[in-house]
Amino acid sequence: MKGKLITFEGCEGCGKSTQVALLKEYLTTTGQDFIITREPGGTEISEKIRAVILGKENSAMVDECEALLYAASRCQLLKERVLPALDSGKLVIIDRYYDSSFAYQAYARGLGYDFVSAANKFALDNAVPDITIFLDFDPEHAFIRKGGADKTDRLELAGIEFHKRVYDGYNALAQKFPQRIARIDASKQINEVHNSIITLLKEKGLIK
Ligand code: TYD
Repeated sequence: MKGKLITFEGCEGCGKSTQVALLKEYLTTTGQDFIITREPGGTEISEKIRAVILGKENSAMVDECEALLYAASRCQLLKERVLPALDSGKLVIIDRYYDSSFAYQAYARGLGYDFVSAANKFALDNAVPDITIFLDFDPEHAFIRKGGADKTDRLELAGIEFHKRVYDGYNALAQKFPQRIARIDASKQINEVHNSIITLLKEKGLIK
């Protein structure tokens, strides 16, 4: 990989979308070359898969199907957009990546690490992030700050116990991969969190 890959992770309501938008603004105003995308989604096909996964009409979906659809969406995004961009030396930022599958499907759904790892083996092609920013904010406080779940989103409706398990999953991942996963305290003010992210990415030589 000639380019650099930065991924963002965290529980529902941790402020991830806001921080990704602020990083995008920073990179644009400082004239840096990058692409930014999200999971599930980011390509026409992956966005269609996203609609199937998250649609609340699909409440009959079994956990294995959900995990495989995330992997399918990821595979399409990687091969269509991310890997070509990395090969041409670009900076790529993804809002959620395979750590989401470990936190949500392996830990919270209980499918286990091996299942998710095997499902993703086909998708990943060794595209390991240079850094993963884990926005650490516990889900109970996050839901209060957010004003409750989005009632059109199947995963947001999964209940607080589920989201606490997601949080436990992220903590376990952060312990398992301390070199790659950087924990940022996301309970702080928006600008403070943003500044911490910029400082960290500069220190790592990933942005200017
Ligand atoms: P989204 O509305 O993008 O949530 P957020 O703004 O919190 O990122 O919906 C993505 C949902 O999909 C979110 O609930 C997390 C979940 N998800 C998984 O369960 N596994 C995955 O591998 C990915 C990428 C996302």
